[in-house]
Amino acid sequence: MSNILVVIGSARTGRVADKVAEYVTSNIEAREGVTATVVDLAALNLPFYNNEQPAMSPDRDQTDENVATWSKFVSEADSVVFITPEYNHNLSAIQKNALDWLFFEWNDKPVTAVAYGWSGGSLAVAALREVLTNVKAEVAIDMAQLGFMKDLNPDGSLLDEANVTAQIAAAIDEIVVPAGEPVTV
Ligand SMILES: Cc1cc2nc3c(=O)[nH]c(=O)nc-3n(C[C@H](O)[C@H](O)[C@H](O)COP(=O)(O)O)c2cc1C
Repeated sequence: MSNILVVIGSARTGRVADKVAEYVTSNIEAREGVTATVVDLAALNLPFYNNEQPAMSPDRDQTDENVATWSKFVSEADSVVFITPEYNHNLSAIQKNALDWLFFEWNDKPVTAVAYGWSGGSLAVAALREVLTNVKAEVAIDMAQLGFMKDLNPDGSLLDEANVTAQIAAAIDEIVVPAGEPVTV
């Protein structure tokens, strides 16, 4: 059984992220031998990064209960998909903070995104790629980029369902760890 962690990267009231997460989890749950675990960063309530040591240091401190939970979520996942809004041509702060809290947990982890925004969240995707490369994740080639007024309405409802479905399927295809393959944790 392959376990994909779906990370909701918005804390906004009335966020579109919930609808996009629903499209993504439906795709995952329709697959045989694959499960989805959803983590809502708003509910997880991580502190802003406040460790004396960076996350890549063996001396880092993960005594904060929410940080330890986040570390466990990522460690136990076979792969990760971020539900990624674009804020000011970049990642949302809550998502960047969550990325910064971990390092070893990201190493060799297959990670993708389903991004959305007026240009498909393309600049958030570019920023995400840079961070994931730095934490030595296995960065997906084809991340999904859903455009407002093209693929989705700005409230997250579907405009071009076929294209949304195809993009999400391609993104998830790339990070599914085939059954029987050793899992990196
Ligand atoms: C602080 C902020 C900055 C934003 N910047 C961008 C942007 O740079 N590009 C874009 O396409 N949309 C931008 N938007 C609009 C978002 O794409 C839109 O609000 C989207 O619904 C955010 O996702 P969420 O509802 O899941 O939080 C911004 C929204 C906020 C709140």
